[in-house]
Amino acid sequence: MVPDSNEIHLAADALGKGQLVAFPTETVYGLGADAENPDAVAAIYALKGRPSGHPLIVHLAPGADIAYWAEAIPEEARKLIDAFWPGPLTLILKRAAHIPSAVAGGQDTIGLRCPSHPVAQALLLTFKAGKGGVAAPSANLFGHVSPTLARHVRDEFGNDTRLAVVLDGGQSEVGIESTILDLSRIDTHGPVLLRPGKISATDIARVTGRIPAKADSTAPRASGTLLSHYAPDTPVVLVATSQMAEVFSTLKKKGIPAAVMHYSSLPDVSKEHLFTRIVMPLSVEAYSHELYACLRRLDEAGVDVIIVEHPPEDIAWDGVNDRLRRAAHDTKDMLEKLLG
Ligand code: TXA
Ligand code: MG
Repeated sequence: MVPDSNEIHLAADALGKGQLVAFPTETVYGLGADAENPDAVAAIYALKGRPSGHPLIVHLAPGADIAYWAEAIPEEARKLIDAFWPGPLTLILKRAAHIPSAVAGGQDTIGLRCPSHPVAQALLLTFKAGKGGVAAPSANLFGHVSPTLARHVRDEFGNDTRLAVVLDGGQSEVGIESTILDLSRIDTHGPVLLRPGKISATDIARVTGRIPAKADSTAPRASGTLLSHYAPDTPVVLVATSQMAEVFSTLKKKGIPAAVMHYSSLPDVSKEHLFTRIVMPLSVEAYSHELYACLRRLDEAGVDVIIVEHPPEDIAWDGVNDRLRRAAHDTKDMLEKLLG
């Protein structure tokens, strides 16, 4: 059920009082607070269990004045905003001096994004009459899989009274977090891709005329760039298509209960009672849309390991592959054991 204007007003009022509101966006659900209220921003870190010093994305209403939030806005930012906002692109710019540094984890930059989800837009247009900003990380506990349904948000936080409102806007369309592009040091470093997403490096190059550099260790710290992130509780093992059969026969031999997420056909596996399986769509859009909900479902299957068939290595799949690599980060040894 899509929230009515009454619910939107209640949520906007809660934000105004410094409370936390979970809301849908086209990428994943966000855990929002008034970006200009340092106490409210601190409450986000507390509820998520996120270490402070990790900057948050500020969500803006359509037509918001970005010059209020950022200074020295480069030409490229204007072009990218024209091309991709509202949508799943976050731009890192130099923070305007009067914006409290708490939201930026103390950095002199700020992450800005205008979401396209109608419920997010309604909330942003109502809060401070569209002139405010809502700081929002993904609405999950630190390190967990991001929520793409309101139910996921409730699963993460239960009935914690620190979360005043959860707006339900259905399943997030994109399904993985926004692309993050750092333009704050464009003069010296050029555009730098901090996190891949639906808007790819190629899409960005089409608008700016240059392929963004990949983030290196000198780039500002982004929690989505921590190696182990977006991870279910059950170990995830990423397996190349060519190694799937071998991994399955080992699992069967050892009697290890496993779940599998694959996209190419695996005739042998379908006969196995051992495996809970999900067949993923072949298009990257449909795959991303389903990814987190599927990982959560397999996580609930009560198995020892989740096997994920490695998707194609293609620029369009960078966002998906990035999230899967992080979900599987701690399990490289396990793959060796399963193959050895
Ligand atoms: O799609 C999304 O971006 C979702 C929805 C809710 O909008 N939000 C999201 O937030 O994924 P979060 O906090 O889970 O990830 C935001 C990432 C973090 O890795 C953070 O470090 C980075 O953005 N970030 C935010 N502001 C930054 C800044 N000033 N400099 C560098 N990285 C920044
Ligand atoms: Mg997150």
